[in-house]
Amino acid sequence: MNRRIPIYEGKAKQLFEGPEPGTLIQHFKDDATAFNNAKKGVINGKGVINNRISEYLMLKLNEIGIPTHFIRTLNMREQLVKTVEIVPLEVIVRNVAAGSFSTRFGVEEGAQLPYPIIEFCLKSDKLGDPIVAPEIVIAFQWAQPNELEDITSMALRINDFLSGLFLGVGIKLIDFKIEFGRHYEGNTVQIILADEISPDCCRLWDLKTGEKMDKDRFRRDLGKVEEAYREVARRLGVLPGESDTPVKTKSQIQKKPAILSKAKKSVIKKKRK
Ligand code: TMP
Ligand code: ASP
Repeated sequence: MNRRIPIYEGKAKQLFEGPEPGTLIQHFKDDATAFNNAKKGVINGKGVINNRISEYLMLKLNEIGIPTHFIRTLNMREQLVKTVEIVPLEVIVRNVAAGSFSTRFGVEEGAQLPYPIIEFCLKSDKLGDPIVAPEIVIAFQWAQPNELEDITSMALRINDFLSGLFLGVGIKLIDFKIEFGRHYEGNTVQIILADEISPDCCRLWDLKTGEKMDKDRFRRDLGKVEEAYREVARRLGVLPGESDTPVKTKSQIQKKPAILSKAKKSVIKKKRK
């Protein structure tokens, strides 16, 4: 077996040198941390699920014109991605008050915000990812003004699109964190979406019950962590081992029984089992 060259190891992912220049292999681990590494654990199967969810969401975002680092899935835990120079910002978009926002401003968790709010945090474990004002980002040249404009408009488009996509499967997108990178090609440079989008870095609440379906179950010791990640994947139709098409609800299946072919009926029977 060829030895791979490790490039970087983060808390939930590892990067290896890719097979072609300008590519990296992004490996999703089951490791989970919270509160800047103070709490550590393992969420069994998380890497496999996050690999699938992130692939699915990045491909969907690409379909609406958001450039992303995703190239293709390599195996259950790994995907090939474009090499980027990471912009050292965690870009948080919030639709509903929760987490640190609720704590900082004394706003009740679950309070709807009047419009989506973007926060930039400096990516620095040492400093605890402090929030930074755009003025500081530009003053220290962590991003140029035009890059910050691109990041802001993409983040808002991503939020609109993902909010609708999750709503379609009965999930409310409360907030999420994304990261961007500079992709150099020839003598051009473009800001593209990098890292991952998964229940590790989103808050996802069941639309009907308000139940948490994300990493807050791990952060807050709520139990059923693996189940929540699996349920998000199942609703998106990407649960490993199941069909790639979203699972139909009972009412959708029963609506037009007359026009179902024999083959389709047997598929439905299998899914119901
Ligand atoms: P917060 O409310 O704790 O600031 O988190 C906001 C969002 O960002 C939430 O969806 C979780 C995500 N997040 C990360 O992905 N990584 C982090 O290190 C933190 C603190 C939050
Ligand atoms: N990723 C962060 C950490 O360990 C925390 C979090 O997601 O809450 O440190």
